[in-house]
Amino acid sequence: MMELFTPGLEAYAERFTSSETSILKEIASFTQAHTSRPHMMSGHLQGVFLSMISRMIKPKYVLEIGTFTGYSAICLATGLQPGGYLITIDRDERLHTQCKAFFQQAGLAEVIRPITGDALYILQDLDQTFDLVFIDADKENYITYYETILPRVATGGWILADNVLFHGEVLQPIAKQSKPAQAIQAFNQHIAADNRVEHLLLTIRDGLMLIRKK
Ligand SMILES: C[S@@+](CC[C@H](N)C(=O)[O-])C[C@H]1O[C@@H](n2cnc3c(N)ncnc32)[C@H](O)[C@@H]1O
Repeated sequence: MMELFTPGLEAYAERFTSSETSILKEIASFTQAHTSRPHMMSGHLQGVFLSMISRMIKPKYVLEIGTFTGYSAICLATGLQPGGYLITIDRDERLHTQCKAFFQQAGLAEVIRPITGDALYILQDLDQTFDLVFIDADKENYITYYETILPRVATGGWILADNVLFHGEVLQPIAKQSKPAQAIQAFNQHIAADNRVEHLLLTIRDGLMLIRKK
C-alpha cells in the first residue's frame, strides 16, 4: 500500500476539523472492535465532509450503496429536508441489525431506511429520483451502479464515489494493480469520458469522486 499523504497530514487535518459526535465515536469504536476491515468506515475527516456536503445540497432523497456500520449514512442524513429520507443498501444482514440500533440512538430511525440485499438487484426496483447518491460498495460493480442510478439522479443532482485512489494503487502500472484497483481505474476513466456529468476527484482520505449530473 502506497503512502498517499505526508505523514501526519491527515492527523493535522483532523485536529482542525469539527469533532465527531458521540454516536459517531461509538460507531467508530464498535467498528474497530467488531469488524475485520475497520478501514472501510468513512471516519472522522470524510464524515465531516459528507455531513457538510449534505448540508450544502439539502437533499430530499439520498441513496447510499454500502452501509457497513452506518457511519456515513448518519453523516449523509445531516442535511436532509423535512419529509426526506435516506435509503442505504447492504447485503450484510448482521451489520444492518446493528446499524438499526445506531440509527435509533442517533434519532434518525425515521429517516434512514436500510434495505438488506444485493445492491445490483435492489437498485433496479428503486423509483425515487435522488438528489445525492454515495457509491461505496464492491469496486467491481461501480460502473454498473453508476449507470443504473444515473437516470434516477435529478438534473443538477450529485453522486459521490469513494476509494477512487484505491490506496494509491491507481498510480501503479495497470499490470501491477489488484482487481479492485483496476475496476476503480476503469470507473475513473468511464466518468472522465462521460459528457453527461461534471466531475472532481478530491484527494480526501482514499479519494472521493464528486460528480454532478448536467
Ligand atoms: C466500504 S464499506 C461501506 C462503508 C460505509 N459507507 C462508510 O463509509 O462507513 C462497503 C460495504 O458494501 C457492502 N457491499 C459490498 N458489495 C455489496 C453488494 N453487491 N450489495 C450490497 N452491499 C454490498 C459490504 O457488505 C460493506 O459493508
